[in-house]
Order: sequence, then C-alpha cells, then structure tokens
Amino acid sequence: MASSNPFIYGEIVAAGAFADRDEEYHRLTEDLRAGQKVFLISPRRYGKSSLIRRALDSLARERVITVSVTVAGSSSYVGFLEAYAQALIAAETPIARFRQWAGELMRSMRPEITVDPGGSDRPGAPSLSLSFPTVRTSRDAGRLAAEVFALPGRIAAARKRPVAIALDEFQTIASFDEGSVEEALRAAVQQQRDVGYVFAGSEPSLMDRMISPRRPFYKAGPVMRLQKIDPADFAEWLEARFAKSGLRAESGLGAAIVDLADNVPYDVQRLAHETWDDVKAAGRKAVGVDDLHATLSRILRQQGIVFEESWQRLTLAQRGVLRALVLEGGEELLSADVRQRHRLAGASSVQSSLAALIREDIVMRDGSRYMLTDSLYREWIARKTF
Ligand SMILES: Nc1ncnc2c1ncn2[C@@H]1O[C@H](COP(=O)(O)OP(=O)(O)OP(=O)(O)O)[C@@H](O)[C@H]1O
Ligand SMILES: [Mg+2]
Repeated sequence: MASSNPFIYGEIVAAGAFADRDEEYHRLTEDLRAGQKVFLISPRRYGKSSLIRRALDSLARERVITVSVTVAGSSSYVGFLEAYAQALIAAETPIARFRQWAGELMRSMRPEITVDPGGSDRPGAPSLSLSFPTVRTSRDAGRLAAEVFALPGRIAAARKRPVAIALDEFQTIASFDEGSVEEALRAAVQQQRDVGYVFAGSEPSLMDRMISPRRPFYKAGPVMRLQKIDPADFAEWLEARFAKSGLRAESGLGAAIVDLADNVPYDVQRLAHETWDDVKAAGRKAVGVDDLHATLSRILRQQGIVFEESWQRLTLAQRGVLRALVLEGGEELLSADVRQRHRLAGASSVQSSLAALIREDIVMRDGSRYMLTDSLYREWIARKTF
C-alpha cells in the first residue's frame, strides 16, 4: 500500500499529526470547561490554532457547544461582529432553524439573513449569511457589539449547555474601533460563568499590552504562553512517524530537522514533509541527514527568487542587522561587541532596523532572542549573502 505523507504544514493539524503538548492541551481543555477566560500567547506558527482545535474537538465530544472565529479574518469591526454573530447562531443549529433562532437570540438588533442555496460547485451545501446593513455609525456598532457579545451567555442559558469560544488572532481586535471593543467584550465575558473563552494571539508584544494594567483584560484570566515543543520529544516523534510510514530514519535525523527548523513546529513539519516526498519519489526505504540536506538545497533553490526579492527591498542597515542576527543566533544584537564584529552602526540604529524587520514580519521575537520568521530564509541568508 502506498502510504501518504505523514507530515502536515500550513493548516491546523488534527490529533494524529500532533506532537506532544499534552500538558497544555489538558490545561486548556480544563480551563475552558471551567468557564475561564484564557489568554494563549506565542510567536507565530508555534501551534496555537492546532492546540485550540484539539481542545475544542474534545470539549465538543462532551456536549459543550464550541465556536471558533478568527478575528483577523474580518476587515472591519462590524464585519467581525457579523462573522462572530453568525458563528454563534449557527453553532449546532440546523439551517432550517437558523432564522428563528437568530430572532430569539438577537433582541434589539435585527440581522438580515440571506440564504445561498449552494452553487453547482457545492451541490447540497446551502449556507446562510447574516449582516447588519443598518449599522452605520460607531454608536450603532457599539450597540451591536453589546448585543453580540451577550450571545454566548444567552445560548448557554437557552440550551442549558456550557459553551467554549475561541477568538483566534485576537490581537487584531485592538485595531478595531476606538478601543472600546476591549471594554465591551471584557464587560460581557465576565458575566458569563458558563462560557469558557480562549483569546489567542501571535504578536506577543501586542497581546502583552492587552493584558497589562489599565487595559480592560488585565487579570481577566489565566495566561498561557506556548513554548517550543521539547526538542528531544519532537525529534523522537518525527523519527517514529517516518518509520510508521515505511521509511527507516537514521538516528540523528529527527534532531537535525528540529535544529535546522529552529524548532518552530511549522518549519519542522515542512522540512520533514519535503524530505519524505523526495526520498519516497526516489523509491528508497531509508532516510538520513544527507537526504535532509539535499532537500534543503532543493527548496532553497526553488525559493531563491522570493528571498532575493525580499533581500533587495531591505535597506543596507537592515541587511547588516539581519545577517548579524543569523550569524549570532539572534542574541545580544545591541551589544558593542556584536555591533563591532558585524560593522553595525549604533545601538539605536540597530534597534530601529530590528523594529522595521519585525513590522515586515521577517523577524520575530521570542523572549530576549530575535529569530527569523522563516527558517529557510535564515539558511538562504547564511549561504548566499555576504
Ligand atoms: N503540536 C504540534 N505537533 C506537530 N506539528 C505542529 C504542532 N502544532 C503545530 N504544528 C505545525 O505548525 C503549523 C502551524 O500551526 P498552527 O497554525 O496551529 O500555529 P499558530 O501558532 O496558530 O500559527 P499562527 O500564529 O501563524 O496562527 C501546523 O500546520 C503544523 O504543521
Ligand atoms: Mg493560528
């Protein structure tokens, strides 16, 4: 039997493709079940969304009503409120009941509901969408928000079931409206004893500010910071998955992948996935570190143009800082020693280059350490630039 690639990246991974994180998973599930308001924070691509999916799936099996919305998917505050209201009302509601249920739940604001019978590309998949075309001013939006944010409590009461809600990419909320969103949401959620919330965000600094003193979500609930997966566990998990799919992994392969990927789960899975493909295509039965490096060279060749373009767009100061960051492993970049070694300008100039690189999403911060968002770009810089 031809087995399929056991490594998945770029999408939320289901339980089978999920490594470790048992402790975080149990804690999150328990907190949500207890109606806590959890903040889940980590740099990008560490596995927040996958962890949330696992927790919600398991709660759904216990008859908890679960709802998950990606805040960053909306382009405006009202757009977010519409998407959120729709997801809440649609949770475990048959299409035929949607309109009536929406009417029962929404007391002061009347949504407009349109039915899409499902085109020929999706036969038999009718869907509903809900909008509030009468909401124009920011005062209207404020009223709508109060109504929508109260829905989870009403749903829990009406259905006599606990509710768990995930608002992913939550940092986006800070960019909506004049900051009153946080206050309105905080006021609503703290009255909802039977509703667990997880607010997940990938820009640690923005998320950290949201839970700082004088902001509405200060001390609203437990804060979970997702760390990297234990590298030894991750390496072992990789080798076991290679073996299970019919490729004997030479010892050291797992550790080499984790190391090359800077132990960012997305990058780990991508390298493993691509290596698996190459080795399978060559019809081989074993895989080793040499294969990993051959695959890495192939990907770097293919992605070279993209990296080249990104590099060209940077200022000379930014290039210098980026190279130093790669060569120094992201530590102590502001120190006189590092600046001298890499012929960088003053500390404040280095700092502003770093800020620009973070804004461009090329660099991210994990504690005091800076790292490239994309470990392949890091390898490309190490090999191709001077
Ligand atoms: N526990 C895990 N075990 C194995 N791989 C994982 C795990 N968690 C995440 N991954 C890998 O990392 C990728 C990104 O995960 P996910 O989208 O959950 O991260 P995220 O923190 O939500 O990222 P973002 O900040 O970009 O939204 C997944 O597609 C998967 O390849
Ligand atoms: Mg995510």
